[in-house]
Amino acid sequence: MDPLRECSEVGPDAGVSIERRIGAHSFARLLGDWRAPEGRRLAAALTDRIRLLVLDGRLPLQTRMPAERELAAALELSRTTVATAYDALRATGFLHSRRGAGSWTRLPAPQATAAAVAASAVTPFSPAADDTLFDLAHAALPGSADEIRSAAAAAVAELDGHLGGHGVHLSGLAELRTSIAKRFTDRGLPTTADQVLVTAGAQQAIALVLTALSGPGDRVLVEHPTYPNALDAIRARGARAVPVALTPDRGWDLDLVTAAVRDTAPRLAYVVPDFHNPTGALMDPETRAGLVALTRRTSTPLVVDETLAELSLSVPSPVPVAAHGAADSPLVLTIGSASKIFWGGLRIGWIRSSAPIIRRLSALRPALDLGSAVLDQLVTARLIDGIDSIRTARHGELTVARDHLLSRLEELFPGWRPSRPTGGLSLWVDLGAPVSSLLTSAARRCGVLLAAGPRFGVDGAFERFLRLPYTLRRERMDIALVRLATAWNGLDATAGSGETEPVAVV
Ligand SMILES: Cc1ncc(COP(=O)(O)O)c(C=O)c1O
Repeated sequence: MDPLRECSEVGPDAGVSIERRIGAHSFARLLGDWRAPEGRRLAAALTDRIRLLVLDGRLPLQTRMPAERELAAALELSRTTVATAYDALRATGFLHSRRGAGSWTRLPAPQATAAAVAASAVTPFSPAADDTLFDLAHAALPGSADEIRSAAAAAVAELDGHLGGHGVHLSGLAELRTSIAKRFTDRGLPTTADQVLVTAGAQQAIALVLTALSGPGDRVLVEHPTYPNALDAIRARGARAVPVALTPDRGWDLDLVTAAVRDTAPRLAYVVPDFHNPTGALMDPETRAGLVALTRRTSTPLVVDETLAELSLSVPSPVPVAAHGAADSPLVLTIGSASKIFWGGLRIGWIRSSAPIIRRLSALRPALDLGSAVLDQLVTARLIDGIDSIRTARHGELTVARDHLLSRLEELFPGWRPSRPTGGLSLWVDLGAPVSSLLTSAARRCGVLLAAGPRFGVDGAFERFLRLPYTLRRERMDIALVRLATAWNGLDATAGSGETEPVAVV
């Protein structure tokens, strides 16, 4: 079971609006296999693991920590070890305590975070020589600069036409809805503007759909592994993720999904069929058709997250899942985003479904916000209109970056087994041992930020896996990989090996 599910929310108190608590035994499970490789002190290793859980979101902020004595008992440690770890976390801003009341997780101020990461243990690199952090935790590209600049200039010129109105468009600006609808139609899914709702990124789209279709206690079917912020959104809704494994050879196993729908009667299913985050898997056309048929047979809404759909590298662009059924089916909700193909800084996404569903979702929107910024929507509409040349440029860069990363991994980490995705932004790497969190902590000390495998799973799964994006410039990627190799070679890579079965993923 998900240890954090055992967290209970308690009422507000003195300046803390939402507070969660986690029991000592649940916390021990969440910590996983944290114990220090030989030579590192237990307290330092415990501090590092807790810091990692806070930084990568597995331990939410404002969570009340177990009392020192209880945690020491659950971990079979001396109370001094736990007290030393808590002291170190307090000193670096990851914990705050009130005498007699307890300790809560928090994040230090941004400059302090980098300093805390650097100070968390001996770093083998001279900060004077190279003190920057290398971000391999986010699979996101810098903006398509030239295209965004010229789209922004065109959008500014069009702004006059909008300044006379109030500027609030709950469902999105007509120009952008039309451009998105045309893009769907060009990709093989006939769509009209009233079938599109513009959102503040795909993340808001996921939250909005969950609000509309699910409630506390409901089950939501997800792939396993899956996109972590979708898992967080499901938890935030009070719903429960029902994980269905992706299989090593084909990715999605329709029989497995069908059985899970039959056995658990989920409120909805959430899938990422195009260059799946994190595995990079691409769903084949038969499975797409099968999923849509399953949706129709069981009346289970299917939420298709197409955030990475425009990033095909070595295969033709995938046809949308929704195109495998009736184009106006209310049961398939397709989510898209400008973030991966153009730039995350635009904060524009969308939902496509039947027009009545779109109206229903728009009616829920004011509880979240009153629509996206007009200027950002105009910029995005221009970018979508010119998407072909941006796609060509992105595909060229990303193909080279993916192949470079694969060949560097072969040289530096011969025992690792990376996926070979046909699109998307990252590799999913089998490390050969359940040390992903350990490696993530060690890499931080070498100035490299990683997203550990368990971030993408339920119940701490995927300790053997690491997601590695190929989104850094080549020179920076090369430095990051050398640092990563230092972190890897410093690990006791046998720690915990053999304790978990290989996990079935692509
Ligand atoms: C599968 C998936 N869905 C949704 C999102 C969120 O996208 P946006 O930036 O549009 O909110 C991401 C971003 O990484 C993603 O990978």
